[in-house]
Amino acid sequence: MDSLAFIEANLDRFRDELDDFLRIPSVSAKSEHDGDTRAAAEWLCARLSEAGLDAGISETPGHPIVVAEWRGAGSDAPTVLIYGHYDVQPPEPLELWDSPPFEPTVRDGRIYARGSADDKGQLYMHVKALEASLADGGTLPVNVVVVAEGEEEVGSPNLVPFVQAHAERLDSELVLISDTGWFTPDLPALGFSLRGLAYFELHVRGANTDLHSGEFGGAVANPANALARIVASLHDERGRVAIPGFYDDVLEWDAETRARIAALPHSDVDFAASLALAELSGEEGFSTLERLWIRPTCDVCGLISGYTGEGAKTVLPNHAVAKVSFRLVPNQTPERVKALFEAHVDTVRPPGVRVEVRELHGGRPWKAALGGPAFEAAADALEEAFGTRPVPMGGGGSIPIVVDFEETLDASALLVGFSQPGCNLHAPNEWLGVENFEKGIGALARLYQRLG
Ligand code: BES
Ligand code: MN
Ligand code: MN
Repeated sequence: MDSLAFIEANLDRFRDELDDFLRIPSVSAKSEHDGDTRAAAEWLCARLSEAGLDAGISETPGHPIVVAEWRGAGSDAPTVLIYGHYDVQPPEPLELWDSPPFEPTVRDGRIYARGSADDKGQLYMHVKALEASLADGGTLPVNVVVVAEGEEEVGSPNLVPFVQAHAERLDSELVLISDTGWFTPDLPALGFSLRGLAYFELHVRGANTDLHSGEFGGAVANPANALARIVASLHDERGRVAIPGFYDDVLEWDAETRARIAALPHSDVDFAASLALAELSGEEGFSTLERLWIRPTCDVCGLISGYTGEGAKTVLPNHAVAKVSFRLVPNQTPERVKALFEAHVDTVRPPGVRVEVRELHGGRPWKAALGGPAFEAAADALEEAFGTRPVPMGGGGSIPIVVDFEETLDASALLVGFSQPGCNLHAPNEWLGVENFEKGIGALARLYQRLG
């Protein structure tokens, strides 16, 4: 039986197994789920060895890394590193889910569960494509090493040292990643960029205690007011980040890429309507897709200060916090953005408060060389499996390890994702299309063959 027939014959079992994987609440951010996160690693490791790979678990100071190898193509053949993550985002707020996040449920051709799209479902497609390729004495034209981590959603703190320490074992020509999505529900895509990330907590502190806002207000600085002023200083009227020097390292993209972006079938009206927005907003002089993919941002992701309970409490808080994230584009670096942010905060800091910038996590932006044999092989494989040739697409999100893989292993990355727009990544009611899961396994099996 060839691998495509094997997939066809085993789809029901693949779906059941995926459900088992999705039932494990591998929430990396929460220590109460550490046991579940480990269980997900062990479950995945067992499936990889059943698929015919030499699989094991590598311990880290945090969640384990699953590594599985198949070297049957021989030392003259190229090696493909398949990367994915088995950890998921916290599912909260639970009341907004139409079915429980860790009880996979199919509705309207979609598998609803936390991690279905990001990234357990997509990672598992590779496991099944590998199983199908190696079943019944089948072989691959390339060697394969699978690296699945359990800390992507918390910034991959232990993967960089792992990759550096095992660079020889992980040595590969191509890093293949399925952790991104399609351009429209029917239009597959290959990724040409990812934004980087620099995430901070900005702490503003005043007096040594909260104070009566009548007794002290007006004479003592209010950290909440001060924080609001600092936050307001982060953007200008044109929607640009107003931190001096912020754009110095920002790459002006080539005309060809910008033309390709402009040619994509995108409608601002539909995009706004899909979010129930009357209008969009962003940096002047750039289209929506450019704002999402090739321009940097600064966003407050959380604000904490003062009294937030029912009714009025006349209090002058002594502490205010903002969670501030920057999405970065080539050639910005988290280190330089941190220095610029700190200097700016120090300059605009109102009198009477102390400020502290704490770094949470970061990752560098990534930009692919468009085209090339691997890119064409993926386009052919997707077209064969889905009947539509993929478009090149940028990524607004971040996968921090991609640049480290490329640099440390001297490889290039190929992003072949299968989630669809509106699939609620990180949000309630995350889903993965059943058809994308099923046909995508075939697409990946075809891709492995073509990479030879
Ligand atoms: N799979 C996403 C990244 C992604 C999403 C890329 C959509 C392109 C389009 C990944 O799991 C993710 O969520 N990354 C985080 C990184 C962070 C936690 C360090 C992100 O982008 O916020
Ligand atoms: Mn992901
Ligand atoms: Mn994610």
